[in-house]
Amino acid sequence: MSPTRAPVPPPPARTARQLREATSSARRRHRPDADLNPLRQGLRLERVPDPCSFVLFGATGDLAHRKVIPAIYQLWRTNLLPAEFSIVAVARRPYTDEAFGAEVRASVEANSRVQPVDEAAWAELAKRITYQQLDFGDDAGFDRLSERLDALDAERGTAGNRLFYLATQPSQVTEIVRQLGRVGLDHEMRGSGWRRVVVEKPFGRDYESARRLNHEVAKVFRESQVYRIDHYLGKETVRNLLVFRFGNGIFEPVWNRSYVDHVQITVAESLGVESRGAFYEETGASRDILQNHLLQLMTLVAMEPPSSFHADALRDQKLQVLRAIATPDVEHVRHDVVRGQYGSGWAQGAAAPGYREEPEVDPESETETYVAGRFTIEDWRWSGVPFYLRAGKRLPERTTEIAIQFKEVPLPLFRESTGDPAPNVLAMRIQPDEGIMLRFAAKVPGLGLDVRTVNMDFDYGTSFSVDSPDAYETLILDALLGDASLFTRADEVEAAWAVVTPIIEGWAAMPAPRFPNYAAGTWGPEAADELMERDGRRWRRI
Ligand SMILES: NC(=O)c1ccc[n+]([C@@H]2O[C@H](COP(=O)([O-])OP(=O)(O)OC[C@H]3O[C@@H](n4cnc5c(N)ncnc54)[C@H](OP(=O)(O)O)[C@@H]3O)[C@@H](O)[C@H]2O)c1
Repeated sequence: MSPTRAPVPPPPARTARQLREATSSARRRHRPDADLNPLRQGLRLERVPDPCSFVLFGATGDLAHRKVIPAIYQLWRTNLLPAEFSIVAVARRPYTDEAFGAEVRASVEANSRVQPVDEAAWAELAKRITYQQLDFGDDAGFDRLSERLDALDAERGTAGNRLFYLATQPSQVTEIVRQLGRVGLDHEMRGSGWRRVVVEKPFGRDYESARRLNHEVAKVFRESQVYRIDHYLGKETVRNLLVFRFGNGIFEPVWNRSYVDHVQITVAESLGVESRGAFYEETGASRDILQNHLLQLMTLVAMEPPSSFHADALRDQKLQVLRAIATPDVEHVRHDVVRGQYGSGWAQGAAAPGYREEPEVDPESETETYVAGRFTIEDWRWSGVPFYLRAGKRLPERTTEIAIQFKEVPLPLFRESTGDPAPNVLAMRIQPDEGIMLRFAAKVPGLGLDVRTVNMDFDYGTSFSVDSPDAYETLILDALLGDASLFTRADEVEAAWAVVTPIIEGWAAMPAPRFPNYAAGTWGPEAADELMERDGRRWRRI
């Protein structure tokens, strides 16, 4: 960072008064006559980003087409973006603005969660999209980009505010950030507008590389300008977990080692690696899911109540959890962490190839497509409560769930009446069929005293008539608003890698298990069941 640059403080959490004032900014929305029904738009009615340019690096890639551009379209369609808005799409291939516009129109058609595409809204948005061919290594290209953004400020009134979204390979982040710094596109001089950079996961490959990457990014951008995405944090049910815990008084008293027996968190995918074999060979389940999604969910379950929902208040508490997770040593890795790789089997009623038979995968690959582990948090709230985390590909179902299993009653009065004794469980389904389920014992109607377990269910779909936004809509809007609470901070990312890196290194130093060790369409290797059985527990059947 240049020493002469005047630092711009991060935006404060909005007060009720500011939110009311923000309502008046609805006039700046791109369709002032559009439906502003608060039921349709929820709390977001109050929040309209400043005029800005959205610079999408990697605009021709898979993520840009499937997620980012459809999410922007959805925000635009629902009137949540300012009229003074422009998208500069950046990638290597040559395109005219018109050809690129036609291609993204087709992607929006294919990937938008609301169909059909609103032609009038799309036509307005399309006018604001321009394409710039640029190679990330090309200085002149970045000079042109900088000039174009200045020109857009004049043409479109985007006021010098710029969000740089890096939908690019992780290895390219350093170069893009360096180029942005070289041409001064990071500078937030007073009055010149804000500059923010959104970086996709994975952020680093291990503890050291994440530290190096943070260091490189910090040479150019201040931490308050950096938004690291873990899209799980934008999911509606994950955000609801915070409301569930801290918006209700009845759960917090039992949310601790006195009442909780253990916690299970599952991220199960039914698909294999599809067309991403080369990517997955370099990644595996521990880097792809454990380091980010699973540990993030664990922090939200385990964190202490924050003093506010200001980004740093929330992230400070999550960081405390990550730092309190017992760092796995060699013995822990050997006994408490299991890796697996799927072989051929059946998935959704069809024969499925094994991982080693997938395209772009080494026929002798030792990459894990499944990971399960037992983790503990060394603090007063959770000491002695195991957290069992698991993630895998080609499991029987696509499902993400957090299950809190409570301790049994001190004196089992109904032992003889209970056909199938089962402890209380609170299960939060993150996807699909988002909802919350509480399992408890109930008397079977009749003259006898039969006791069975029953489920009390809250289902998002039936309780609310509004559709949930896609996680990318939430996160992109938050980044445009300068709200970083759902993004991971540098120290958080490093603390998560500090948990996972010893596992990856431990595995590298040990002989690999005999892969494949579970069949496609099953719930993972036997060793994962044995891990639970050793503790007298078992994985939930989902
Ligand atoms: N895809 C997903 O579902 C997904 C999910 C979560 C996270 N992510 C993360 O998102 C990021 C992007 O993934 P992706 O799957 O979208 O990648 P991708 O399909 O390979 O797209 C890469 C993009 O980068 C551009 N590019 C590559 N090298 C370039 C260069 N030297 N100069 C200029 N542009 C260059 C490509 O442009 P050209 O096509 O013009 O070469 C393309 O637009 C990765 O970090 C990934 O881990 C992806």
